[in-house]
This record gives sequence, structure tokens and C-alpha cells, in this order.
Amino acid sequence: MDKPNSFELTGPEFIPSQYDHHIVRKLSSMVGQYLDIEAYQEILAKDDLVLYEVYEIKRPEVAGELLHGVSIVHPGKVGQEYFMTKGHFHTVLNTAEVYYCLKGQGMMVMETPEGDWAIEELYPGRVLYVPPRWAHRSVNTASNSDLMTFFIYPGNSGHDYGTIEQQGFRKLILEEAGQPKVIDNPRWKAPGAR
Ligand code: 6PG
Ligand code: NI
Repeated sequence: MDKPNSFELTGPEFIPSQYDHHIVRKLSSMVGQYLDIEAYQEILAKDDLVLYEVYEIKRPEVAGELLHGVSIVHPGKVGQEYFMTKGHFHTVLNTAEVYYCLKGQGMMVMETPEGDWAIEELYPGRVLYVPPRWAHRSVNTASNSDLMTFFIYPGNSGHDYGTIEQQGFRKLILEEAGQPKVIDNPRWKAPGAR
């Protein structure tokens, strides 16, 4: 039987004092997600940049467990579009997630399979509840600081990346005149068109 477990998650670095996996996601894993395909190719030709990292505490992937860890999206842009996570639905659609923003500045872009969408700001101290059924993607809108969040979600959730890889998110976050701006994704596939 498991024993209760504690670890430290303290600033300014917010790297958990204990973790089991360190996942590093690079530009090359985001084919087709950024609006500006030329800018994407151009950066990739020079360097397969690290866009974000995840520190995970390992727990059994079963209902009743809670998976948790820290997500770090680095600052940067592809064309005018900010660095962001791949984003996903949970495979078990009816599972929620909680995010607590530790550091930085950003937005969570969310949508349902029906095409409803929502965007919530993230800044230190902010708690975000992502209800069941909502796909989620973190976007770092700061120019030179990491976006760091602590997340918790059910052990049986799983990750469905394929749906977003195919249809995209309905909304994208681009920089315009130095400010984040929400635009419609011209390549988004609406529910009827999938
Ligand atoms: C999850 C969480 C979160 C997420 C990271 C990286 O369900 O695992 O939403 O930990 O995995 O922020 O984002 P991607 O999983 O979309 O690459
Ligand atoms: Ni998730």
C-alpha cells in the first residue's frame, strides 16, 4: 500500500524537488499546428527548439489516482504566434483538470468537441478549472519569462492528441502591436466538416 508523499515546489524556480519523468517537447513535434508554416520551417531548419517541458510525478493511470506535475512553456514565437503546448482532449472525455499558475503570463485555450470555445488568462496565483470534455492548450504570452503551471487530473484520463492534430484549435493567440490577440484559426475543422 502507498504511503502519503510530500515534496517541495518553491519559487523562483518551481522545479519539483521530486519527479519521475521529465518530458521535453520540441518544435518538430508540432507539425501543422502553427499558422505561419514558412516561419515554422525556417526556425526548424536552424534549430529544433525546446518549446515546453513537463515534470511528472508517476502514479498508476487508473481511476481514483490523481496525476500531477509542473508544465513549463518557454517564451518565444513562431511568426507572430506564441509558443504553446500541443494541447489535447483527455481520452476519457469526461475527466477534468485543475491548473495553478506558479509563474509567468499566458492563456489557456479550450474547446469542446461541439466547437464551444473559451480562453482564460493565466498569471501567478490564478487557479483554472478545466471541466470535463474541454480540450486544453497553454500559451505563453510573455516575451521573456517561462509560463509555469502545476496541474492535477484523474489517473484514468489518458491523452488524445490526434483530434487536435487533425482539426486544430478554433482560436489561436498571436501577437499584434506587442499585445496578445485572439484570432479565428482559418484551418480549424468545424464539427460538421470533420
Ligand atoms: C495533462 C495536462 C498537462 C499537459 C502539459 C503538456 O493532461 O497531462 O494537461 O500536464 O500534458 O501541459 O501539454 P500537452 O500534453 O498538450 O503536450
Ligand atoms: Ni490534460
